Amino acid sequence: MIVSPSLLAADFLNLQHELKRFDGLSDIWLHLDIMDGHFVPNLTFGHPVVELLAKIAKHPLDAHFMVTNPEFYIDTFKNYKIHNFTFHYELFTENKDELIRLIKKAKAFYPSVGLSIKPNTDVTVLTDEILKELDLVLVMSVEPGFGGQKFMPNSLKKVEQLSIKRLELALNYSIQIDGGINEETAKVAIKAGADNLVAGSAIFKHPMENTATAIKNMIS
Ligand code: DX5
Ligand code: ZN
Repeated sequence: MIVSPSLLAADFLNLQHELKRFDGLSDIWLHLDIMDGHFVPNLTFGHPVVELLAKIAKHPLDAHFMVTNPEFYIDTFKNYKIHNFTFHYELFTENKDELIRLIKKAKAFYPSVGLSIKPNTDVTVLTDEILKELDLVLVMSVEPGFGGQKFMPNSLKKVEQLSIKRLELALNYSIQIDGGINEETAKVAIKAGADNLVAGSAIFKHPMENTATAIKNMIS
């Protein structure tokens, strides 16, 4: 089980200090929500900030691109030690060949490549052909763009279906869930088959010294 704390909920004035929360903890990815103010109505951080974070991070970086032109980011983030590169399916509803081309391109530069679906996107759009290319599928359990929203339970069915598909096709992509994850929703998400939990506010709302316990309570 991996927990991916979303830095969107961290104190942006003290990012280096915030990362100390995870010192000594294992099975942690640092989730970076990259937004372009276009695919979603919000802007977060971009190249210079991620480059600096990469220099000090002791855990794998998990970048979630909520952007309209992922190819630009595949090219421009490739030297920042990003472990997982996730972008959104919704950009390619009319062009699956282009989607596969971009997944393959990203795989040349990043150890892990993920694809995300928004709450209104049916999981069946992820065909076997697409799933076979992926290291991770990210099921959004809130509308992307902002932290602190309420968990949408319709995401659980999608996680279950992805879990069944994974067995059927003998694949080993991770199933990540993102949005409104806290101690309670983490439990149901894990039960449904999620093995990678993104959590922002539920982790960073705690004082630093309670971080490890908060994470432990989520997954046990
Ligand atoms: C939303 C982001 C999430 C967000 C989750 O667009 O993708 O990663 O930070 O925040 P919480 O855990 O507060 O819902
Ligand atoms: Zn995210």
